[in-house]
Formats: sequence, structure tokens, C-alpha cells
Amino acid sequence: MGKFITFEGVDGAGKSTHLAWFADALRQRGLDVVITREPGGTPLGEQLRKILLNQPMSSGTEALLMFAARLEHIEQVIKPALRAGKWVISDRFSDASFAYQGGGRGLDWDKLSQLEQWVHPDLQPDLTLFFDVPIEVARQRLANNVSLDRFEQEQADFFERVRAGYHKRVRENPQRYAVIDAAQSMDKVKHKLEVILASI
Ligand code: TYD
Repeated sequence: MGKFITFEGVDGAGKSTHLAWFADALRQRGLDVVITREPGGTPLGEQLRKILLNQPMSSGTEALLMFAARLEHIEQVIKPALRAGKWVISDRFSDASFAYQGGGRGLDWDKLSQLEQWVHPDLQPDLTLFFDVPIEVARQRLANNVSLDRFEQEQADFFERVRAGYHKRVRENPQRYAVIDAAQSMDKVKHKLEVILASI
């Protein structure tokens, strides 16, 4: 079995840049690495992503569509790759649903746990890299983006709740996470990633 590693953080934390670098470092070790993302990762998931990022909807619908896309992603992509011995790196997974729909939108945490139990009772990431950053810093980084999606357009208090949602998830299961101070310079973050790479 390969390993399943997820990258998480509020929009603007810089996780996507570091994900590409991290995957390259694993490939240089000779590992077969699959990079994927949520919402998305399958043809149906990518269609749901377009809807989720653009179309206003209730928080319950948002959570159900996130988990619907996730079920496809797990069955079609993640599990087959892991079974074939590949390493899977996903830009977001269920922690994002707890942080955004639970923390950000205020959806009941237990409902999300029920969806998680339904959709992946037997799968959790081996490791989650959580890029943690003060919301002011994340928002400054987003300010350079020309087009912001439905989530990125939210106000600072939404992102404060998302960040708190991530912290709650980390508290519930600390051994699964590496918490990275993403307010630091790129070089310092890379150094931290090198330390993590040496330990897996
Ligand atoms: P993101 O991963 O930040 O992609 P990009 O870097 O291309 O903007 O965008 C996905 C958005 O979807 C992000 O704002 C968080 C949100 N999201 C949820 O609200 N719940 C989820 O379960 C997932 C996977 C993502």
C-alpha cells in the first residue's frame, strides 16, 4: 500500500505551491506519486467543483456535494492508487469540510462526522500537512488574485471560523497532523517540509 497525504489550510496559506515541491521531492526518491485535489479529482468531481465554487447554495447542500465528490474520488482514484502502491497527495480532503462547512458555515459538526463515517469509514490520511496562517496574512496573499471564487470572496470572520475549525480537527486527532507555520518565509517552510520528508 502507498501512503495517503493531504494538504490543508485556509485560502491564501500557500499550500498549493508547497504541494508541488513536496511531490517532486517524493518523486526524486523514486516513488510513484499521484497528485489530486478536492473538490474534484474525477470527471464528475470536477463538474461538482465548478458548481461548488460558483453557485450559491445552502450549507447543507454544500456539504453533501463535497462528500458526493469525495466518494467518487475515493473509489475511482484514491483507493485504486494506494492499492497499486502509489503515494497519493491530495490538495484538501475531509478536514476542509469540517473547517469550511462546519467552522465557516456553522454546519453541525456531528452531521459532518456522520457523512465522514458513511463516505470513508475505513480511510484516513496517513499524514495531513496543515498550513496555518493568521487570517490577515492569508488575505494579503489573496489580494493579488484577479478572480476570487465563492469561498475566497468571504469576509475575514468566515476565515477566522475556518481556521478555528481546522484547529478543532487537529485537537481531535493530533497525531495525524504536521502543523506548519505558513506565515514564515518560503525558505523556512521548505526547511520544515524537508524535516517532515526525512521522517516519512
Ligand atoms: P482551493 O483548494 O483553495 O483551490 P484554489 O487554490 O484553486 O483556489 O479551492 C477549493 C475551495 O473549496 C476552498 O475555498 C475550500 C473549499 N472547500 C470546502 O469548502 N469544503 C471542502 O470539503 C473542500 C474539499 C474544499
